[in-house]
Amino acid sequence: MHYFRKRGWELGDGAATPEAVFRTRRQLVKALAAGPVLAAAPVLLTACDGKESSNAANGATASAADPSAHLYPVMRNLRYRVDGPLTEERHATTYNNFYEYGTSKYISQDAQQLRIRPWTVKIEGAVEKPFEIGIDDLLKKMPLEERVYRFRCVEAWGMTVPWSGFALKALVDLAKPLSKAKYVRMETFGDSSLAPGLRQPFFPWPYVEGLSMAEATNELSFIATGLYGKPIPKQNGAPLRLVAPWKYGFKNVKSIVRISFDEERPKTFWEKMGPAEYGFWANVNPEVAHPRWSQAHENVLGENRRAPTVIYNGYGEYVAGLYKGMENESLFK
Ligand code: MTE
Repeated sequence: MHYFRKRGWELGDGAATPEAVFRTRRQLVKALAAGPVLAAAPVLLTACDGKESSNAANGATASAADPSAHLYPVMRNLRYRVDGPLTEERHATTYNNFYEYGTSKYISQDAQQLRIRPWTVKIEGAVEKPFEIGIDDLLKKMPLEERVYRFRCVEAWGMTVPWSGFALKALVDLAKPLSKAKYVRMETFGDSSLAPGLRQPFFPWPYVEGLSMAEATNELSFIATGLYGKPIPKQNGAPLRLVAPWKYGFKNVKSIVRISFDEERPKTFWEKMGPAEYGFWANVNPEVAHPRWSQAHENVLGENRRAPTVIYNGYGEYVAGLYKGMENESLFK
């Protein structure tokens, strides 16, 4: 690589935040803001410290005006259980990664600029017939349920949250892909009038992620349209985002406008940014360190505790079989 730049959600050399600095979320933010991320990438980061109280006071949760508000809460699917408590809503909704709004974790207020109606999702590529569908029509067609999933960011923090939404498989079935479709490519909006970060030319916008067809139709793959029994807040990826809980958080593309069924593996946002560090598969594995920090443990968001990381984030029984015979692939970065 001829250049090297750290991203805002990365921890620096010296590993993921030591336990001592993870006492509270405020301390964590201070540690990140003052740490090597800032030193290495001053052009990319704005100071985030000091915004916490105004964000917390504002709440910045789903707007009461959201026309889908009446759909929630939905019935929890008890097949997916997680030991331990849920992360408090205020943590999950005010500590975010959404680079379209900047590289700070504290973008929840800025993300309120996002306009989520009208919102159309384009379905295209190798499908019987490409089409567009408005989010409210899509919500009417999809079987909504709630799932509590663990979430593990590549930065070595984790949380447990109740997503509402529907199995990605239901959307794949609606799309009617052709047999030549091998991958599902998902893209975030690229309209810079909705998010100032999109004017940052350094980033390879729009944000793109993808799954293989086998992954997309695995029962765990989920499209979240709600969080904590309400419409999903803008900062968490309204009105719809991917949740693939056995993968690092960056796979979970937010605010999707385009879903394409492709024969070729899509090049993702982070593969373009740092191919030596971020691959396509990005399955959670405590044994495979990030080049600059260990993945063996994670800091539990909002709690004064570290927990050992588990392969596939604890979802191996559902997904390990997807990767048989792929030992030569970089499955864990
Ligand atoms: N999607 C878009 N469009 N833009 C982003 O910057 N960040 C990713 C992912 N999806 C990101 C995105 C990363 S790095 C993480 S860890 C998760 O969103 C964070 O999701 P959360 O803010 O809901 O916790």
